[in-house]
Amino acid sequence: MALSTKISEKDAQQFAEEIRAAGLDAPWLHPGPLIQPKKFQVQSGLWKWDKIEPVVRGMADFIAPGKDAERRIVRIANPGVPELTATHTISIAFQYLLPGEVAPAHRHSPNAMRFMIDGQGAYTTVNGDKCMMHPGDLILTPAGDWHDHGNEGTGPVMWMDILDSPVVRFLEALTMESYPHEKQLAGSQNRRSERLFSAPGLVPAGRAAETHERLLAYRWQHAREALQRLAEVENDPFDDVMLQYVQPTTGASVLPCLAAYLQMLRPGVETRAHRHNSSTVYFVREGSGTTEVNGTTYHWSPGDVIVVAPSAVHKHHNANREPAILFVMQDTPMLKALGFYREEAV
Ligand SMILES: [Fe+2]
Ligand SMILES: [Fe+2]
Repeated sequence: MALSTKISEKDAQQFAEEIRAAGLDAPWLHPGPLIQPKKFQVQSGLWKWDKIEPVVRGMADFIAPGKDAERRIVRIANPGVPELTATHTISIAFQYLLPGEVAPAHRHSPNAMRFMIDGQGAYTTVNGDKCMMHPGDLILTPAGDWHDHGNEGTGPVMWMDILDSPVVRFLEALTMESYPHEKQLAGSQNRRSERLFSAPGLVPAGRAAETHERLLAYRWQHAREALQRLAEVENDPFDDVMLQYVQPTTGASVLPCLAAYLQMLRPGVETRAHRHNSSTVYFVREGSGTTEVNGTTYHWSPGDVIVVAPSAVHKHHNANREPAILFVMQDTPMLKALGFYREEAV
């Protein structure tokens, strides 16, 4: 503690005690900057699919959804996040359902989206809109919407759950509620969102647009074809070819905190290095390549997950003859809304 020449060490210690006894803290009592950094920082890293997949499938021997646990999931656990989520803002889990199984209906304050990985016959019903899930599809379950999942197929299904739950938990705004029944009835509202927004550039002229109803299912075939067409006309030095999934009536990100993108690294492309203070999670959908993050090179292939921590310098390289396709999740919308977003070339 810094001392004035007129004050004895004992007086200073007594004053420090007085500060604490009053329930106060003085930053000049501690070494370091005025605003102390967090004790833990998000770590960049690579999670390999050949380690993830056996665990995801292995859960079926131990956990039954709706009985032993609400969801049969396993999460990416970042060693720099004490709550063990993928980043400080993004939760990534893998969910697995056997034929005939149901993940019972509930709703909660966190927003979620699901990226389908493997299997046929999976569905998510969102407020009565039953969305079938095929590999590569993106399905939204916005905050407060009832949702249940199920598997009507003959083999197991697997997808990735992406939630902003770490943000909601930090804000102490977490709520969760069970639906009175295991499943919602899916009737006339089946495929409602896809029927509202069935063609690019066309939105309903009436109430559905005024109330900003959302598209809930972004189909892989549409996204993959759109990425291929974009690659013919446009690319970026840092991200090469990148599409953002947006809400059709507003152009806003799919979730208020989190944005989703589909990225192509064309054969032979090496991107320029940059950094931004958003955290990023990449899921490798097709192809293979490398991402260098703060000098560490990660070699990735389908199913791998790469986490890039806030402000980490990163660049990508696809040395192969086939394009590499990455599904990308970022907390950029939240940082932009709060005026914190920064990005720079390195
Ligand atoms: Fe949920
Ligand atoms: Fe980036």
